[in-house]
Amino acid sequence: MEKMVVGVCLTGGKNPRLLYQNTMSYTGWINGNCNMIIDNNLEGTQHQFGYEWDLYREILPLHKEQFCRWMAPITLSFFTDKTFMDAGCGMGRNSYWPLLEGAKSAYAFDYDERTVAVAKQNLKTFSNCTVALQSLYEIEFKNEFDIVFCIGVLHHLVKPRQAIENLVSAVKPGGTVIFWVYAYEGNERYLKWVNPIRQAVTSRLPLPVTRGIAKLLTAILKIWLWFPQKKPYMQLLQKMSFRHIEAIVFDQLLPTIANYWTKEEVLELLAELPLQNLQIQHTNGMSWTIVAEKV
Ligand SMILES: C[S@@+](CC[C@H](N)C(=O)[O-])C[C@H]1O[C@@H](n2cnc3c(N)ncnc32)[C@H](O)[C@@H]1O
Repeated sequence: MEKMVVGVCLTGGKNPRLLYQNTMSYTGWINGNCNMIIDNNLEGTQHQFGYEWDLYREILPLHKEQFCRWMAPITLSFFTDKTFMDAGCGMGRNSYWPLLEGAKSAYAFDYDERTVAVAKQNLKTFSNCTVALQSLYEIEFKNEFDIVFCIGVLHHLVKPRQAIENLVSAVKPGGTVIFWVYAYEGNERYLKWVNPIRQAVTSRLPLPVTRGIAKLLTAILKIWLWFPQKKPYMQLLQKMSFRHIEAIVFDQLLPTIANYWTKEEVLELLAELPLQNLQIQHTNGMSWTIVAEKV
């Protein structure tokens, strides 16, 4: 059987971790001290998310606060009169706010038909917004947009570097790229206790079953959130409805690929690209927002 290399290990030693990987079924380490991983399953995550967005399709006022946190230090007013691309747009909740703020035009795309149908519905009031079915691996735009953003997508890809290169190509020289990805730092406990359950169990179960588990975990989390919380992200969760939290929990449990990168690994993924003035921020104490200008 033909096998393909899908992961490259950056951190050797006793506890090697992958820079990126397909967590479905790797077949073994090769090259002695863990330099590569081989896999024969390159299925992406878009269809799992299609199921999610078909169910949790409504744009909520709190999505605005969520979006603003992910984009910081960029603010909504930065979008006024600018063109932007929303790569891996999901149900369209992140394009919605900059369009309301007076963005000149938007191109939002995703790679699952159900997701694209929901995004089209959610963004239909904006005649200056195009919603398309497209893969991050097949972007043909060159030097086109003032802003390209990609929120919560890259860490779910088999080939994040290839996607990043395509996104950087799509932005104009002098334009801005904004990426938001999961961090390793701040998620250590989650990665120790919950992530192995996602890998071994919930990402492999039928999606309606995983949804049932998400409802149960949300009920437990809701009780925990009755108590005073110190972390800003937990305080944001306290403001959310049961259904909103359930969508977030489900989103965490379902993907077969979910990478939590250290700052060093993120910078490695962005190395040697025509970018300058790169800023990286530890958002909500558990994720990275990267903002950079194209040279
Ligand atoms: C966690 S969701 C985030 C969606 C959206 N950015 C948001 O924040 O609401 C990840 C999205 O990436 C999309 N995706 C996965 N692989 C993709 C690909 N190859 N091309 C385009 N989109 C992809 C999925 O379909 C899914 O909607």
